[in-house]
Amino acid sequence: MGDAVGARSPRAGLATVAVAGASPYSVHVGPGALALARELVLERAAGRRTCVIADARAWDLHGARLGRTDELAPFTFRPGEASKELATLERALEHMAAQGLERGSFVVTFGGGVATDLGGLAASLYMRGLPVVHCPTTLLAQVDAAVGGKTAVNLRAGKNLAGTFHQPRAVYADTDVLATLDESELRSGMGEVVKCALIAGEDSLSLVEHRLAEITVRDGAALGELVEACVRSKARVVERDPGELGERKVLNLGHTFAHALERTAGFGVIPHGAAVAVGLALALELSSELGLLEDRGLARRTRALLGELGLPRSLTELFPHGPPRATDLVAAMALDKKARDGVLRFVLPRAAGRIEVDVEVDPERIMRFLEARP
Ligand SMILES: NC(=O)c1ccc[n+]([C@@H]2O[C@H](COP(=O)([O-])OP(=O)(O)OC[C@H]3O[C@@H](n4cnc5c(N)ncnc54)[C@H](O)[C@@H]3O)[C@@H](O)[C@H]2O)c1
Ligand SMILES: [Zn+2]
Repeated sequence: MGDAVGARSPRAGLATVAVAGASPYSVHVGPGALALARELVLERAAGRRTCVIADARAWDLHGARLGRTDELAPFTFRPGEASKELATLERALEHMAAQGLERGSFVVTFGGGVATDLGGLAASLYMRGLPVVHCPTTLLAQVDAAVGGKTAVNLRAGKNLAGTFHQPRAVYADTDVLATLDESELRSGMGEVVKCALIAGEDSLSLVEHRLAEITVRDGAALGELVEACVRSKARVVERDPGELGERKVLNLGHTFAHALERTAGFGVIPHGAAVAVGLALALELSSELGLLEDRGLARRTRALLGELGLPRSLTELFPHGPPRATDLVAAMALDKKARDGVLRFVLPRAAGRIEVDVEVDPERIMRFLEARP
């Protein structure tokens, strides 16, 4: 399969971020990136088959940028996390078989993180693996889900429990399509952007701060710069640790708290990005309490940024009718993949760009820490 899928030349206005590793690929970022994906699909569809797996809403709004529905006959699924399940995966695979996909064919995903996770998994399973090209259409999917090769569906027992690592051949992150995102989806994506900036370092953090006004009015150039910075940062991390054995754990910054908050509230009740925002604020406070935080101003700066983005920064801001009990949050954290042998493990910032992984903290201490928080 050492063919040309994904090896497209860059265009004016588009940035190309190379992701190195055993299966290298490019992420094309910026306004009009889907026109490049369209060329690829048209060219490849002539000889070999393609199958598009698309979020129905994203496809209705923007599918025409990739190709005609009657020609591409996409598999569309109902928008939302509920579609990230085995039954939809099975229907997608049957659709691929009905379209006559064979070795040499390829899969294109189109939509948010649900599309890239579900479609990526379908591609990795069909005939033991077909190449996949991602066209992420939410901010969250552009900065996070489409890059790094993780795919999954949820099981009743938990989120993302059935999945694979399957690197894409290429990613086309067209920032034009972000114009139609609901305000809450944009804000949720910004929670991950702030996480990404804290991991990437000072340059990215000040980029978000300085372009905040343009970002909130969805200025295409500002969003393009932001997505590019996040993709570059994630690419550097995942190419060094594709299988999440070590360094990649930094990407879980704020997520031990966030997952516990989501689990306690019931998955889908609070937006993931809002949970991440509170998780980041808590991670900074915990880091400070444990004496790890070297950049003293970082907590205040991050709180200010999250506030200006309209994101919550504390348990009470996230749960105005009363936050969950500390015992329930700690119990939820103990179920996290990162917890082992009765100790909780956290990813904590020392400074922007300097993140400590596997910080072990006694559950009792976390309980006291949470009880003391508003
Ligand atoms: N694989 C990874 O590394 C990784 C990383 C982060 C998140 N994820 C996964 O991503 C998922 C969340 O992704 P998400 O936030 O993109 O959610 P999503 O895919 O459900 O999309 C959110 C909503 O936006 C709509 N939408 C998509 N594009 C649009 C557009 N351009 N305009 C208007 N509406 C549009 C969709 O119809 C949907 O209703 C979760 O399942 C999470 O587990 C995976
Ligand atoms: Zn996340």
